[in-house]
Amino acid sequence: MGEVAAAEERKQSLVLAINGERFQLSESDVHPSITLLEFLRSRTPFKSVKLGCGEGGCGACIVLLSKYDPVLDQVKDSTVSSCLTLVCSLNGCSITTAEGVGNSKDGFHPIQERFVGFHASQCGFCTPGMCVSVFSALVNAEKSNRPEPRPGFSKLTVTEAEKAIAGNLCRCTGYRPIADACKSFAADVDMEDLGYNSFWKKGERDEEKMSRLPAYNRHSSNLQFPEFLKKEIKAGADLASKGYHWYSPSSIEKLQSILQKNEADDGTSMKIVVGNTGAGYYKELEHYDTYIDLKHIPELSIVVKDQTGIEMGAAVTISKAIEVLKQENVNDFSLESKTVFKKIADHMEKIASGFVRNSGSVGGNLMMAQRKQFPSDIATILLPLLFETYRAAPRPLGNALPYLNAAFLAEVSFNRNSTGARLNTCRLSFGAYASKHPIRARNVEEFLIGKVLSVGLLYEAIKLLETTVIPKDGISHSAYKSSLAVGFLFEFLSPLVNTPDQISGGLCSGDNSSMLRDYNSKIKDNNDKLNGTKFPTLLSSSKQNIQSSNDYPPVGQPVTKVGASIQASGEAVFVDDIPAPGNCLYGAFVYSTEPLARVKSITFKSRSPPVGFNALISVKDIPGKNLGCTSVFGEEPLYADEFAQFAGDRIAFVVADTQKHADLAANLAVVDYDKENLNPPILSVEEAVERGSFLQVPPFVFPEQVGDFSKGMAEADRQILSAEIKLGSQYYFYMETQTALAMPDEDNSMVVYSSNQCPQIAQETIAQCLGLPVSNIRVITRRLGGGFGGKSIRAVSVATACAVAAYKLQRPVRMYVNRKTDMIMAGGRHPMKITYSVGFKESGKITALKLDILIDSGAFPDVSIVIPGAIVGSLKKYDWGALNFDIKVCKTNRPSRSAMRGPGEVQAAFIAEAIIEHVASTLSVEVDTVRSINLHTYNSLGFFFKSAAGEPLEYTLPAIWDQLATSSSFHQRAEMIQEFNRSNKWRKRGISRVPVIQEVTVRPTPAKVSILSDGSIVVEVGGVDMGQGLWTKVKQVAAYGLGLIKPGGTEELLEKVRVIQSDTLSLIQGGFTGGSTTSESSCEAVRLCCNVLVERLTALKEKLMEEIGTLEWEALILQAYQISVNLSTNSLFIPDSTSVQYLNYGAAVSEVEVNLLTGETTILRSDIIYDCGQSLNPAVDLGQIEGAYVQGIGFFMFEEYPTNSNGLVTANGTWSYKIPTLDTIPRQFNVEILNSGHHQKPSGEPPLTLAVSVHCATRAAILEARRQLGSWNSEDDPNSTAFQLEVPAVMPVVKERCGLDSVEKFLQWTMGTK
Ligand SMILES: Cc1cc2nc3c(=O)[nH]c(=O)nc-3n(C[C@H](O)[C@H](O)[C@H](O)COP(=O)(O)OP(=O)(O)OC[C@H]3O[C@@H](n4cnc5c(N)ncnc54)[C@H](O)[C@@H]3O)c2cc1C
Ligand code: FES
Ligand code: FES
Repeated sequence: MGEVAAAEERKQSLVLAINGERFQLSESDVHPSITLLEFLRSRTPFKSVKLGCGEGGCGACIVLLSKYDPVLDQVKDSTVSSCLTLVCSLNGCSITTAEGVGNSKDGFHPIQERFVGFHASQCGFCTPGMCVSVFSALVNAEKSNRPEPRPGFSKLTVTEAEKAIAGNLCRCTGYRPIADACKSFAADVDMEDLGYNSFWKKGERDEEKMSRLPAYNRHSSNLQFPEFLKKEIKAGADLASKGYHWYSPSSIEKLQSILQKNEADDGTSMKIVVGNTGAGYYKELEHYDTYIDLKHIPELSIVVKDQTGIEMGAAVTISKAIEVLKQENVNDFSLESKTVFKKIADHMEKIASGFVRNSGSVGGNLMMAQRKQFPSDIATILLPLLFETYRAAPRPLGNALPYLNAAFLAEVSFNRNSTGARLNTCRLSFGAYASKHPIRARNVEEFLIGKVLSVGLLYEAIKLLETTVIPKDGISHSAYKSSLAVGFLFEFLSPLVNTPDQISGGLCSGDNSSMLRDYNSKIKDNNDKLNGTKFPTLLSSSKQNIQSSNDYPPVGQPVTKVGASIQASGEAVFVDDIPAPGNCLYGAFVYSTEPLARVKSITFKSRSPPVGFNALISVKDIPGKNLGCTSVFGEEPLYADEFAQFAGDRIAFVVADTQKHADLAANLAVVDYDKENLNPPILSVEEAVERGSFLQVPPFVFPEQVGDFSKGMAEADRQILSAEIKLGSQYYFYMETQTALAMPDEDNSMVVYSSNQCPQIAQETIAQCLGLPVSNIRVITRRLGGGFGGKSIRAVSVATACAVAAYKLQRPVRMYVNRKTDMIMAGGRHPMKITYSVGFKESGKITALKLDILIDSGAFPDVSIVIPGAIVGSLKKYDWGALNFDIKVCKTNRPSRSAMRGPGEVQAAFIAEAIIEHVASTLSVEVDTVRSINLHTYNSLGFFFKSAAGEPLEYTLPAIWDQLATSSSFHQRAEMIQEFNRSNKWRKRGISRVPVIQEVTVRPTPAKVSILSDGSIVVEVGGVDMGQGLWTKVKQVAAYGLGLIKPGGTEELLEKVRVIQSDTLSLIQGGFTGGSTTSESSCEAVRLCCNVLVERLTALKEKLMEEIGTLEWEALILQAYQISVNLSTNSLFIPDSTSVQYLNYGAAVSEVEVNLLTGETTILRSDIIYDCGQSLNPAVDLGQIEGAYVQGIGFFMFEEYPTNSNGLVTANGTWSYKIPTLDTIPRQFNVEILNSGHHQKPSGEPPLTLAVSVHCATRAAILEARRQLGSWNSEDDPNSTAFQLEVPAVMPVVKERCGLDSVEKFLQWTMGTK
């Protein structure tokens, strides 16, 4: 090609590098709306970027973006979310994905190796994104001019390491091990602080520890900006095809001419973009005809600093703005200006997460605020030329929109003779509280200016403010938002009132200065103390105390997770990573938005069929029975037949040529409903009771009553009658949403890859639906990106829908359900209403408990009939004397609820603790005393649990209870907390200790073990690995089991064992994975197989040993092949009646701090002791305990899953559904795993219920707040200490319980006492 032609081609194309490989895209290759994620996943082999949310909220998709500046000869590296970044904006850029950081072919990066060794990857779906985040932090730290770190470490700091992953979500691990893996690179890390890992043993010296870590060499980074790209760099590429344009104007003039041209081209749609992160909020689905990228216009990217201030172009990214504002070496600015800049920067650091700030621009944010009423932080903080900023959001470090933000400026003067500061000027702005735009509270400003601050004046100002900050009608938590405004103003102004003892005592505790002269430091002090910024790092040193066993190696050893390294590099293959077969089509569900309606027709909004549309599959296309799931528990249809039964019900399935087109088409579907002559839907359990709408629970699964309730009540000194509790739902939030790929095969058969906890049920359902023998259906499941119960029954319909479409169209059909649809259809945990009556003695001993429980099962049975048994099993953790109940499973017109991790059990844990708290508050005794008095004796345990109680020695809870009190210094800390609460007005602490006893049932499970000719071993099990480490334990047991025949020991066999995907035609009767016991039963089935193989090989081994004296494993197997020993066997483990049910024990202590002005709860510390019996792998169990506990924290403290009045889920993405993040887990998290010597006990679910300790501790802190509030009240409020704290105890709830008007009450009281 000649040079001119080549140059011309380059102009019409864009060039980028991905993991060092050159990609040239011309206009026919890419539509400008294509995101980097779509491009990577569909056009390159790099699948490590995962789609977790598609809206910038989870970090599963992030990549490192490197840009070369030829003028400065410098490379800038930063993370960006590939789900929002448009590929056309990446001309001349280099992209590094997790595969590029390290991989199995070229070698893993120490980050990936350390993730493995710190046991920081479970399902592995979040892991590539996590690794890229740390990689970027390392790369950037190394560029800094900080002093040389210790050998083997990087220039990264612990705080930076924590912040690097603060925006990444992980639903499995609970974050602690991830944080440790990251911190292991930090120069300032204390090796003692790094948790349990496979590298070193307890007690080793720091140097030894260091030497065992996978070596990190600062000077040999994998990251090099490709030379070829440096040569090809040009300003920006314009792409144009017939239907669309991508412009990258290099000047304002060129931009104007494009805009003018576009105006003339009537009817074309156009979008200006910088980072395109706004698309994450507005969830834009449509394509535009023209895109204009502003990043190449120098005027829009400038930063000018002079004495008058800092000027920034609109395209400057938020990260760049923060960097500029934080630069300290600018002498032009006064100290005040620098302080202000730093405050703006600090506030901006809480906007979104690093990978959004790195591409999102300041101008884009302001445009969203101005044009689309986005609840912007920047718009508020820039309004008053600020001095101090405030923000109340569910996550302290960001990645959560604020409930309200504020920025205040005041200029004050102090006069020795006056009683307070005089406000000379004052600007108060508030935003993000569901007002159209941020506002200035000018009436309050005018009221304050020129006056000397006094308590009375502050009170008046606050009253005025209440009439000003009024969220618009219908907004949730609106009273809370107004009270936040009051709290922030109080926090800002109270240090200036000259009565420090009374006013600011709570805010600036411990500060006894008489005159508040130092305005700056005083407010900073307040903020630090209130917001906890004085904590140097997010997490403090946590301890993991593990008693492992060496009796049956490698069983019992903390072997690292199978496949963890390929999970970290992103090479592990999840269902959606399987390359699309030729001719593949994609599907998306059309769901009902009505709770109960006749479906008349489905059409599309557009006149012509949607782009890429292929077919609309509905009930009419099902060749066999209309089944979405069949199991022993009941059936549900695949598609609504005549009636849609709930908002979210599957109505049809749109098939298109890409997933994006299928989603777009489903979005364009218009369903015509008819509700004539239909009864109103049943949307609550109360309505279900009224209309007698129940699921029948067969007697054999219904739990038994315990004791005589009337007798117990007669023995009671006191009674509480008919108290009520309500509990809502929780969404699984697996990082990988539901997905399947169905491929028609020869002879009327079908292969379905499904992310599924019960492939067997999927196989049987698909067979019935297609009218084929079960033997024609092969369902394959290799790994799940998290399941948590949501991929058992709920995943079956996804696999079945793909199979039906594939069968009809005779083409492969796949689906990766988008997060919104997934959240709307999922159902989640069972909501319930509980009414209880309880009798108790003056001592706190409970004598009788009766419960009426109404469980909302949703429209179809799923597994709801087992929930009553699960609730009662977990409720029995206390000795209630007698326990009677009436439990009804209500059939409603809501999505079917399924068995979410700890189903029924976590709700029961709450119910039990709520009752104990109620009793304690009625008696005015310490709640921990009531808990201790009502713990089971071995006798009462037997009375409640019958044979499942086991032998007396197996009942380890009493010992755990006492040991935990000692190891957590429970009683001493309780006293310290009392002291803390006495001396702090606006922060209160609480501590709580709770037990768990949980009954589990072991189910029959199959396995197959085969030894191949080279001595390698293949294992298949019924259970599915969804991150819980099942394969790892299975591998250990196989190595141990076959090691018994292996000459020279067992451990070397570990590397020879390969556990392979579950395949329903290869291993039958797989059942389902759940209930915590699948790992142990799968292991037992494997052990049975190994026993058979050992027996078959024994005679040969003895013969060969006699003949040749020594024998290698490989030689033994080769000989066995030659004489045709059968080296493959399978088994079905069936637990005997004595081991089918048993109990699990543990306890937790949590301490929390509540901010009374915002309702923010900080979990200061959690301590857990959990009895794992003889753990098969303590590292895996530790991960399960921590992960489950953090998921429990999500249920109790954060995760609201609301619906509209039709029952349609409204929290349908990362913007509104907040799972715990690194900044919301316990700051100190100590876990001890007991080896009580009995068999392996499950760790997946019981520890989840222990998270109720956090809720109870929060309640304890709130109780203190209410007592204080009571002391400020003129009239005595009898309800001040008797209250219920809702689940989840989100910030608005906590604040409400602490008193929305606590500031006003306090000021009134102060005025009264003066
Ligand atoms: C997960 C997530 C969390 C977030 N959390 C917060 C938060 O807590 N607080 C907060 O304040 N913000 C938050 N944001 C918003 C974020 O700050 C904005 O998305 C970002 O700043 C927008 O910049 P952009 O360059 O990506 O804009 P784009 O997405 O490219 O553009 C946004 C809009 O502005 C228009 N536009 C952009 N630049 C210009 C211009 N110069 N002239 C005219 N029109 C223009 C575009 O046409 C588009 O309509 C969050 C965003 C995400 C994705
Ligand atoms: S998928 Fe991109 S941030 Fe979640
Ligand atoms: S390991 Fe993080 S989401 Fe599963």
